[in-house]
Amino acid sequence: MGIKVVIPAAGAGTRLRPHTHTTPKTLVQVAGKPILGHVLDNLLRELEIEELIVVIGYMGDKIKRFLEKNYSLKTTFVEQPERLGLGYAVSLTREVVGDSPVFITLDDTIVEFDLGRMVGGDCSAIGVKEVDDPRRFGVAVVEDGFVRRLVEKPSDPPSNLAVVGVYYIRNTPLLFECLDRLIKEDIRTGGEYQLTDALQLMIERGERIRAFPIDGWLDCGKPETLLSTNRYLLGKQGGSYEVPGSVVIPPVFIGRNVTIRNSVIGPYVSVADGCEVIDSIIRDSILNENARVERMILERSLIGSNAVVCGRASQLNVGDSSEVNLH
Ligand code: UTP
Repeated sequence: MGIKVVIPAAGAGTRLRPHTHTTPKTLVQVAGKPILGHVLDNLLRELEIEELIVVIGYMGDKIKRFLEKNYSLKTTFVEQPERLGLGYAVSLTREVVGDSPVFITLDDTIVEFDLGRMVGGDCSAIGVKEVDDPRRFGVAVVEDGFVRRLVEKPSDPPSNLAVVGVYYIRNTPLLFECLDRLIKEDIRTGGEYQLTDALQLMIERGERIRAFPIDGWLDCGKPETLLSTNRYLLGKQGGSYEVPGSVVIPPVFIGRNVTIRNSVIGPYVSVADGCEVIDSIIRDSILNENARVERMILERSLIGSNAVVCGRASQLNVGDSSEVNLH
């Protein structure tokens, strides 16, 4: 018997605009597949999923189509009518989750850890990791391996242990009770109903929550973190490719039906299906499906699906001892 998994995926992904104007954040490409593909494939390697419960809202149809086309899991979609936060999204899964233990993972957080050890134990657990500046995360105060206190996005963090975005909750009736209380009493942080705040209420009601240290936390929520996750994952699993007439410097990922002509690709480049790269040099970048890049030198760039980016070759007539810098 497996476990129910909840993925709240109704966020707007504002930090990844403009990509998230047309693609839900979780479907943005990183290292050869959408973020959601990495999240699920990691789970499936280690867990038997009894039912996948996905909260959708913003461009939810695209998420639905991706899951239906690529995974044959028992999946229930729950619509989130208003964007009121992660806690609100989880509260909507009450009917489907019932009173079984549940594993909750954010839709933009790829984690590499021993899921089997976190899930299935006799008490709840949440993933934590030490970070330099925890102010934009939920922050945990941990004693003897258990979470004593949780604060969402504190201006004065009580520790540097950030809540990573993976949660194993055993006492789901209490979770839903605490989420209901947040909503009834309109307790919000940053204008939203937060899962962290509900977990803090659970702790106050006596729930024991283990802090599970996670080293491999690959955030994809912002352009910089998406690119560093791309580098990391390609470094681990990127392939080397031969493209006649072009130079490919591994590690890279090159999808299907890609045309590359007279170019240098890599290192750390993901080129999704259907892209065209002509007369260009690209490193440390992600090209989403059917993007076209011509006569460009790109670095640390994110190019959206179907985008067209064309530069031009310069014609110069430069005299001796001149200095020309084309920035
Ligand atoms: P974030 O706090 O990262 O928000 O959501 P976001 O909307 O995805 O991205 P930004 O901050 O605007 O760039 C954390 C998780 O909660 C889900 C998101 O999909 C993500 O998995 N979420 C957030 C919801 O399902 N509903 C919401 O109303 C808010």
